[in-house]
Amino acid sequence: MGDCDSTMGLGTTVVVMALLLSGAASLKSQAFFSETGDLPCHFSNPQNLSLDDLVIFWQDQNKLVLYELYRGQEKPHNVHSKYIGRTSFDQDNWTLRLHNVQIKDKGSYQCFIHYKGPQGLIPIHQMSSDLSVLANFSQPEINLIANQTENPNIINLTCSSTQGYPEPQRMYIRLETNNSATEHEAVMKKSQNNHTELYNVSISMSFSIPPETNVTIFCILQLNPMKTLLFSSPYNIDAKPPVPSPPVPDHILWIAALLVTLVVVCGMVFFLTLKKRKKKQPGPSNECETIKVEGKESEQTEKSVELQEPERSDEAQCDISKTASGDKRATHF
Ligand SMILES: *[C@@H]1O[C@H](CO)[C@@H](O)[C@H](O)[C@H]1NC(C)=O
Ligand SMILES: *[C@@H]1O[C@H](CO)[C@@H](O)[C@H](O)[C@H]1NC(C)=O
Ligand SMILES: *[C@@H]1O[C@H](CO)[C@@H](O)[C@H](O)[C@H]1NC(C)=O
Ligand SMILES: *[C@@H]1O[C@H](CO)[C@@H](O)[C@H](O)[C@H]1NC(C)=O
Ligand SMILES: *[C@@H]1O[C@H](CO)[C@@H](O)[C@H](O)[C@H]1NC(C)=O
Ligand SMILES: *[C@@H]1O[C@H](CO)[C@@H](O)[C@H](O)[C@H]1NC(C)=O
Ligand SMILES: *[C@@H]1O[C@H](CO)[C@@H](O)[C@H](O)[C@H]1NC(C)=O
Repeated sequence: MGDCDSTMGLGTTVVVMALLLSGAASLKSQAFFSETGDLPCHFSNPQNLSLDDLVIFWQDQNKLVLYELYRGQEKPHNVHSKYIGRTSFDQDNWTLRLHNVQIKDKGSYQCFIHYKGPQGLIPIHQMSSDLSVLANFSQPEINLIANQTENPNIINLTCSSTQGYPEPQRMYIRLETNNSATEHEAVMKKSQNNHTELYNVSISMSFSIPPETNVTIFCILQLNPMKTLLFSSPYNIDAKPPVPSPPVPDHILWIAALLVTLVVVCGMVFFLTLKKRKKKQPGPSNECETIKVEGKESEQTEKSVELQEPERSDEAQCDISKTASGDKRATHF
């Protein structure tokens, strides 16, 4: 068992060494936009070599030199102009610090350590690192578009978040009442700054809200890599005080009542005229009695008369009803 373990341990060490020397091993490093990033070299210096005997340098994926330390002396001569003044070497952990990191700085870097002996330079260590750069989006901000005269239950808003990287996945609205939550999706508008490569994102949308309950609106930005959610501050819309009796239904009721009365009266008169024509025995007192009797029955006759209505125009019926409304004029028919 012990033998087996030790051989396995040795095996892994050899593999790791080989990877390190080939530069296949790569360290992940992360930096925030405009802050400082670490480009580690992870050199353990097992022989306790002095910096005076070493040549150390870092280069980027385009082989541009970021920093060079030649036998303990910084050599800015070989350093590319874009890295001048932006680096500092941390001797304690063999790490190069890159200041004022930009989005363009993301990518892979390599550090090389050579031993400067009498016979020239001997490579003794090499390490790759991948630098990723992040910029935190600002907290999403909801802006209500004020004009809501047409329908007060329709909310029209925009939500925006700025200066972030990388490109986020989506932005949406979450509507919460005390017993429900709904999500509203919209197409996210993106704009990227040419120079900084940072993104601004926004959505603009309209949706209806229930007027009778308090509503809280959130705007949520879902970031790409870790599915992290960035929430806006809650935007509260209080329930509207219940309006006692809206005027529109009132109107409808009145019109309906008027129509029903009209139909009843017209129908009544129409029925009477039909009866009169059949009788052909005009008597003023009789007529008055018939009107009264029919008046009581009007509710029952209403429906059957409605069916016959198309025979006469509305105007004609109304004229009849007007004349019929006066007791004495009814006798002229
Ligand atoms: C190196 O040391 C500095 C502080 O001395 C620390 O901030 C940094 O994180 C270290 N880097 C690594 C890769 O250990
Ligand atoms: C490494 O060498 C330095 C001098 O170059 C010495 O001061 C230090 O004690 C040595 N450290 C070890 C662990 O040998
Ligand atoms: C960015 O956001 C992360 C997570 O919320 C936080 O840990 C980090 O400090 C922020 N960085 C900057 C530069 O604001
Ligand atoms: C919207 O509001 C602005 C002022 O806030 C006003 O000038 C404009 O006429 C309004 N538009 C509508 C359609 O109500
Ligand atoms: C919401 O506001 C935007 C910007 O003013 C406008 O273009 C859009 O037509 C509005 N939508 C509705 C439903 O009012
Ligand atoms: C992004 O938003 C910032 C802050 O509001 C603004 O200064 C910048 O011009 C915007 N950039 C783009 C590309 O829209
Ligand atoms: C709505 O919120 C207000 C306080 O902002 C509270 O007084 C009221 O009772 C709430 N109404 C409902 C229907 O929850």
